[in-house]
Amino acid sequence: MVVDEIHRSAPIVLASNRGPVSYRLGEDGSLTAGRGGGGLVSGLSAIGPEAGAVWVCAALGEGDRVAARRAGRRLDAADTGGQPVRMLDVPAETFAAAYNGIANSVLWFAHHMLWQTPLEPSFDAEFRAQWAAYEAYNAAFAEAVAEEAAEGGCVLVQDYHLTLVPGMLRVLRPDLRIGHFSHTPWAPPDYYRLLPDDIAEQVLRGVLGGDRAGFLTHRWADAFAACCAATLGAEVVRTADGSAEAVRFEGRTTRLGVHGLGADADFLRERSRRADVDAWRARLREQVGPGRRTIVRVDRTELSKNIVRGLRAFRRLLEERPQWRGRVVHVAFAYPSRQDLAVYRDYMAEVGRTAQEINAAFGTEDWQPVALHLDDDFPRSLAAYRLADVALVNPIRDGMNLVAKEVPVVSDDGCALVLSREAGAAAELGEDALLVNPYDVEATARALHEALSMDPAERERRTKRLAAAATALPPARWFVDQLAALQES
Ligand code: G6P
Repeated sequence: MVVDEIHRSAPIVLASNRGPVSYRLGEDGSLTAGRGGGGLVSGLSAIGPEAGAVWVCAALGEGDRVAARRAGRRLDAADTGGQPVRMLDVPAETFAAAYNGIANSVLWFAHHMLWQTPLEPSFDAEFRAQWAAYEAYNAAFAEAVAEEAAEGGCVLVQDYHLTLVPGMLRVLRPDLRIGHFSHTPWAPPDYYRLLPDDIAEQVLRGVLGGDRAGFLTHRWADAFAACCAATLGAEVVRTADGSAEAVRFEGRTTRLGVHGLGADADFLRERSRRADVDAWRARLREQVGPGRRTIVRVDRTELSKNIVRGLRAFRRLLEERPQWRGRVVHVAFAYPSRQDLAVYRDYMAEVGRTAQEINAAFGTEDWQPVALHLDDDFPRSLAAYRLADVALVNPIRDGMNLVAKEVPVVSDDGCALVLSREAGAAAELGEDALLVNPYDVEATARALHEALSMDPAERERRTKRLAAAATALPPARWFVDQLAALQES
C-alpha cells in the first residue's frame, strides 16, 4: 500500500552520506558487500526497491571507492537488493575533511552540545580548509542529484552531512521539490552561535534552500527556527499553539515538518523470533546467571550516548544499594563508531576502563557485574532486548534514539525503560519511561533501582503502552508522510 502511494508521487531521489550498502576490499582485490548501518539507513531502506527511488550516497572507505569506480553510475543491483544506488567516488581527502572534520567534529558536536568549550572548538586555518572540502562534497552531491532527478521530481536530502545541498540544488534545478531531514537534534541559538558567523549563516541558508525542513521532534524544529531568526533575522511562522511551522527568508518560505520515526514492529517481531536470536538469548541467559536481573544498553560507542555516566550510575547503584550485588548484571553493547577520530577512540577506551574498574571493585568469583561487548552483532542485540529487565538509554542529547523504541517491541516479559529526557524519544515515551537528567548520575542510579524494583504487572503494562507509542509511525509510513508533505508544499 505504501509503495502504491509512492508510485502516485513524482520520481524520487534520496541523498544521504551513508548508503544502504558498504564494501570491504579483500587483499586479492575482491569486494564483499554488506549492509549500511544506523537509524537513517533503516528508516530509508524500509520503502524497498519497488518504490523506484534512486539513492545517491557517498563512498565511505576504500572498498566503497573501488566499488563505485568499477560500477560507474549504478552499483550492482545484486549488492543493493535491487535498490538503484549511485555511490559518489569523492576523493578520499575531501571526504575525510568533510565527514570527519566538519560533519562529525563540528556540526555533530554543535547539535549535540558536546564541546568542552575551554579547549574546543577552535576555528582555525585547518577548519577553513575542511570547510572548503565540505562545500566541495556537498556540491558533488548536488550535481549528481541534479543529473538523476526527473523534471519536477522530489528530492529528499538527509542529515547534517548535506546541509548545503538544498540551496545548491535550488540554483541548479529550480523545478525540483526539495526536502531536507535532520536525524539529529538542532542546537539552540546560544549554542549554535559558537559557529563562525559566516558558517552559521551558510548552513541555515543551505537548509532553507529546500521547500521543507523535517525534524524528529518539535523541540528540534523550534530550535532550527529560532536559529534562523537569531542568525539570519528570518521570520518564523507559528501555529496557534506556538510551534514553528515555517520560516520566511528572502522571499521564500520553507515549511517545517515533524516526523517522529518509529520502530519497525513487523520486522523486529519476526526477526527477533528466529533461531539465531533464540540461541543468543540462551547464551546470554547463561552468562548472566539464572535468576539474575539484567540492565541492557545497546549503542554505537558515541560521545553523545553517555555510556560512561551510565556505568557510573550502575556503580552508584551497587554502592548505595548492596541488596543488588550479585543479583544484577549490566549487559552493555558498545560497538565501534567513527574510529578515525581520536576523541571517539579515547572514549571507547574510557568505557572499557570504567567497566573494568566496576568489575574489579565489586566482582566475585561467580558474578561479574558488567558484561561489556565492544563489537556489533544485531541478532545478539535483539536477544538482549528480549531478555532485558531494564533498558538504559541515557544520551546527553539524541535526535530520537531507536533503541528506546525497539526494546519494548521485542521484550519477552516486559522491560522497564530508563530514558534520558534529552532524547527525542522522550517526547513520545515520557509517560511510561522513567525519565532522567543524563548528567545526574545519582538520579540515574535511583531510576535504575526503581526500574529493577518495578512490580512485574506494572512493568508489563508500561511495556505494552511503550510499544504502541514506539510503533506509531513505522519507517515506511514515516517516509511516505514526508513525501506527501513535500508534494503539498
Ligand atoms: C546518526 C546520524 C546518521 C548516521 C549514523 C551513524 O544516526 O544521524 O546520519 O549515519 O548516526 O553514523 P555514521 O557516521 O557511522 O554514518
